[in-house]
Formats: sequence, structure tokens, C-alpha cells
Amino acid sequence: MDEWIDYYDSTHTIYVSKLHRDLHFQIIARDIIAYISSPDAVVLDYACGEALSAGQVADACATLYLAEPAPGVRGRLIARFAPNTKIRVRSLEEVRQMAEGSVDLVVMNSVAQYMTPEELDAAFAVIRRLLKPSGRFVLGDVLRPEVGMGRDVLALLDFSARHGFLRDALLGLISTALSDYRQLRTRIGLERYGEEEMLKKLAAAGFKASRAPRNIGHNPWRMTFVAHDAYP
Ligand SMILES: C[S@@+](CC[C@H](N)C(=O)[O-])C[C@H]1O[C@@H](n2cnc3c(N)ncnc32)[C@H](O)[C@@H]1O
Repeated sequence: MDEWIDYYDSTHTIYVSKLHRDLHFQIIARDIIAYISSPDAVVLDYACGEALSAGQVADACATLYLAEPAPGVRGRLIARFAPNTKIRVRSLEEVRQMAEGSVDLVVMNSVAQYMTPEELDAAFAVIRRLLKPSGRFVLGDVLRPEVGMGRDVLALLDFSARHGFLRDALLGLISTALSDYRQLRTRIGLERYGEEEMLKKLAAAGFKASRAPRNIGHNPWRMTFVAHDAYP
């Protein structure tokens, strides 16, 4: 769904403050690092967004590919991480051209909801081709059908209260209610999957997967799956 890519390429207000944005990317980086099994690992962050803490992820592995479809975001990633020789920025088209069996860990966090089910299947096929036989695919922040926007609001309020930006979160929620995000979310919607449904979708794409005990990031009502090639 290209409209979501355009949204993420715009000056959006998905993060209510600089502190929120910085904490978000620190937590994502921490959670990605927990899945890196060796300092020699090649890691691909699929649709990484601004990836502000990618330097920490790169410190924990040999090479970090940051793949991002939004051209403006990608331009900023290139500028931000130019001095870091472990980080390579790629478009999704370039990811499709990467060598088969060349990646140890692929993380796709908070992306599946913006893709059509067909786009997600196509991405699964690319990811499976890229993984080494021992590689892992971590699919994070998947929305469930039974959990609505109210839980996203609660998760943000809880996160902000614990980190001292509750006031900004409340103001942010008001501007979000009036924003392009709200309009897009109402008009196009977000894709949601039940746990069994996603396990079946991953199995149909050739992955053996299980649900992780906790989600990547701050929202405990969303799901993370850890998968590997079922037929390596
Ligand atoms: C919420 S951000 C997640 C960024 C990062 N992975 C994180 O966890 O913070 C959503 C990302 O999905 C990307 N995106 C949106 N629609 C997409 C689509 N149809 N296909 C691939 N990526 C998409 C956006 O460009 C953006 O980088």
C-alpha cells in the first residue's frame, strides 16, 4: 500500500516528541540485538524507518542492511550512517537483488500492517530466499483482529508515563486524532492477523514459525513471530 509509504516519507507526527522517537528506536534496537546470535552475523532490517539507533545494532553484528522503501527516509539513512562502514542502506528493489542465502537474521518490525496480504507474501518469498539455512526471520508488532486502536492508545500512555512524557503523549494523541494518520487508518485501514492465521501464512510461505513470548517494542498487545526456513 503505497499511501502508507508516502505517509512515512512525509513529516508525520507518529512520534509525539523527540524523546518518544529516540526511546522508540532505542528499544527496537535493543530488541533486535537480542535476536543476533553472533558478532559475525549479517542482519537485514526490512522497512527500518528512521532507525535512529541502528549504530548500536551494527556494533552487535558484522554487517547491517537497512532497507527502506520511502525515498526521503532512505536519503536520511544514507546521510546519517555514511561514516559507519558496517551499515548499508538499500531500497526494497535492491533487497530483491541481494545474493541468495546471504543473511543470518531478517527483522521486519511494525510493517506487515501496512502491506496488502499479497505484498506480505511477496516479501516473505524474498526474505526466505535471502536467509542462510541457519538463518532466522523475526516478524514483529503484528496487529491482531480483536485488538483495536484503544489498546494502541493505552500502550502509548503506559510507555509515556514510565518514561516521563505523558503530557506530550496526551497532546500527541489529540493531534493524531486530527491527522493524516487517523484519516489513512480509517480510510485504508491496517492489516491484522490472528496468531494461527499468521502461523499458517508463514507456513504457506515455507517457514516454520512460533510466536515469541513478548513483542518487539513497547506494545504488549501486538505479536512477534520467530521463523526459519522449513525446508532449508
Ligand atoms: C511504523 S514504521 C516501522 C519502522 C521500523 N521498522 C520500526 O520498527 O520502527 C513502518 C515502515 O513500513 C514502511 N512501509 C509502509 N508501507 C509499506 C509497504 N507497503 N511495503 C513495505 N514497507 C512499507 C514505511 O516506509 C515505514 O518504514
